[in-house]
Amino acid sequence: MLNDRHLILGITGSIAACKAPALVRLFIKRGAEVQVIITPAGKEFITPLTLATLSRKAVISDFFSRRDGSWNSHVDLGLWADAMLIAPATASTIGKMANGIADNMLLTTYFACKAPVFVAPAMDLDMYTHPATQANLDKLRAYGNRILEPASGELASGLVGKGRMEEPEAIVQQLDDFFEKQAEGGLQKKKILLTAGPTYEKIDPVRFIGNYSSGKMGFALAEVLAERGAEVQLVSGPVTLKTRHPNIRRIDVESAEEMLAAALREFGDCAAAILCAAVADYRPAETAPQKIKREGQEELELRLKANPDIAATLGARKRPGQILAGFALETEHELSHAEGKLQRKNFDFIVLNSLRDKGAGFRTDTNKITIVDSRGQILAYPLKSKREVAEDIVGKLTSYFQ
Ligand code: CTP
Repeated sequence: MLNDRHLILGITGSIAACKAPALVRLFIKRGAEVQVIITPAGKEFITPLTLATLSRKAVISDFFSRRDGSWNSHVDLGLWADAMLIAPATASTIGKMANGIADNMLLTTYFACKAPVFVAPAMDLDMYTHPATQANLDKLRAYGNRILEPASGELASGLVGKGRMEEPEAIVQQLDDFFEKQAEGGLQKKKILLTAGPTYEKIDPVRFIGNYSSGKMGFALAEVLAERGAEVQLVSGPVTLKTRHPNIRRIDVESAEEMLAAALREFGDCAAAILCAAVADYRPAETAPQKIKREGQEELELRLKANPDIAATLGARKRPGQILAGFALETEHELSHAEGKLQRKNFDFIVLNSLRDKGAGFRTDTNKITIVDSRGQILAYPLKSKREVAEDIVGKLTSYFQ
């Protein structure tokens, strides 16, 4: 599955850089093209000549080529890559990646890279367990990077292996598995509609009714679907998140009515839709044309009107073979409420989160879900990052296309 893949291998200044030649050799053996980028500190541990010989490509370290002064384009490299692997990744590089510091060629390439990024940390135990390092790793996970670490266990020496770089064979296998999943997913070129984020319902020109949805779950889903080759139509309410992948077409909306109109336009030729948005159930019956003034009033009544149910509207129009999935965020009687919504909205499956679970729901980087499908299957998952949860949901979706 690595055959003809374009990989960027970023090497930073750790003693584990001595394992980089083994990584390059394994990738080349499996048919990948490898472009090595090394940081100045990385060169203290391993010579570019060794890496260039093994990868059959000049190693990049500087913004300009020393030979002829030509520009090494981090943007072109980022677009060329099918995946980027940073191994070993030092605490310093991880810190810079987490905090937007782009002071060498490896980091600028990382920030410009649209392909999935894998990071294999390597440092001593104290640096690894430091709260700052752990917070930076959490940030990288939240940004969608995959952290590759050895399963915790005892080393032969009796020391716990935390912070030690994952073995080259295991790293190569994980990238291979990633591409295999991508290829077998059956999502290539499939158009998939996603709704995400909250909706804002205007009260007057400066006020609205909204909710706490951050859009994180929907955007994580968009990234995973795009990486598996789907053409994602992401209809998003107001959020501060950015999309990175070129396979994602983003349509920004504000209100439930706008979201419904955009969803209806896209749904017809979609293979599937996942409705992740936290749609406001009601909107003000009238939107005041001017700012509502206080003017001594002690009470103000807002009359609300039901919004359209986007999920039920699409559910009623679903063609045979189209897959429709939704979410349910519940605080009580979780399963029976979710099953009710599954039927009412004609979903093929529903993703249930309970606000009773710590770490689930709005504005978190984690989620804990149960998937209930229309065939009566119920699958409960442990607490995971929203990125990993997105992978589980996409896994469920792909099962319908296999
Ligand atoms: N949904 C939608 N349009 C709406 C309301 C909800 O598309 N107007 C979708 C959501 O995106 C989600 C699912 O329906 O996938 C369930 O949303 P939820 O708000 O839990 O359902 P409601 O039908 O509004 O039920 P209630 O508020 O009574 O729990």
